[in-house]
Amino acid sequence: MSALHGFVFGVYPYIALTVFLVGSLIRFDREPYTWKSDSSQLLRSGLLRWGSNLFHVGILFLFFGHLVGLLTPHAFYAHFMEASVKQQLAIWSGGAFGVLCFIGLTMLIWRRVFDPRIRRTSHKTDIAILVILWVQLVVGLITLPYSWAHSDGSVMLILADWAQRILTLRTVDAEVLAGLPWPYLFHIVLGMTIFLLFPFSRLVHVWSGFATVAYLLRPYQLVRSRRLNVPAGRNLPRRRETTGSAAVPERPSEAPGAGAATPRPARG
Ligand code: HEM
Repeated sequence: MSALHGFVFGVYPYIALTVFLVGSLIRFDREPYTWKSDSSQLLRSGLLRWGSNLFHVGILFLFFGHLVGLLTPHAFYAHFMEASVKQQLAIWSGGAFGVLCFIGLTMLIWRRVFDPRIRRTSHKTDIAILVILWVQLVVGLITLPYSWAHSDGSVMLILADWAQRILTLRTVDAEVLAGLPWPYLFHIVLGMTIFLLFPFSRLVHVWSGFATVAYLLRPYQLVRSRRLNVPAGRNLPRRRETTGSAAVPERPSEAPGAGAATPRPARG
């Protein structure tokens, strides 16, 4: 095992995770107004509807699939599911949602690059992150035939053990990954790099997306109309009344000459 391999699979994961967590906190604290998904729906919604929905359905399944698949200890499911069955489940479900995600992501890249309005309003990182996710997805799909070739689940167990050791801060043996085919290694390194880039891109909206679960527990909001007890159909703005030829404004701010001269309530 080379020193580079040891660094990439033994040290880099910690660097990426630290930048991901601390970087997200700093961005949230220092640049709250840039913390958003930067929707481009107002500019053009056509391709976005299909592209974004297909992409998000696919990526959310893949995200949680990786999370549960990699981080559930083998002992937890060993007595009701063999590793080979879990491997098959991962191949078929990951493949199906991977294809959905691929179609959606390709549509999103297409509109971002070839639609002049979207292109003009895109930051470099917007395009870069889409391309990086696309490459990651394609390499993930390339690993499928390799996983099929050893459908006993042996490689899956090696990868899961490695990921669990990283997250539980136990000693990592980077050498166990050394003999794996290149698509696995590439996929892992690029995956960690996505975590590293996360706080510097629009991906920060993913935190907020998951935080929306808190809405389920939020107290109800009571919304009251400003005009209560008005018969249906009459809840409309009052018409201006006229005296002679001069219109009487309903509110002082509508009077001719009002505006600059109208005193405003003091702030603070
Ligand atoms: C947690 C749930 C999530 C929610 C609620 C959410 C919501 C959104 C919204 C509202 C947009 C803007 C779409 C538009 O232009 O109108 C967006 C865009 C985007 N999201 Fe998410 N998202 C979630 C998870 C994710 C995940 C897990 C990823 C990838 C790791 C991701 C990657 C992206 C990307 C790359 C874009 C930009 C697409 C474009 O170029 O137009 N999102 N998301």
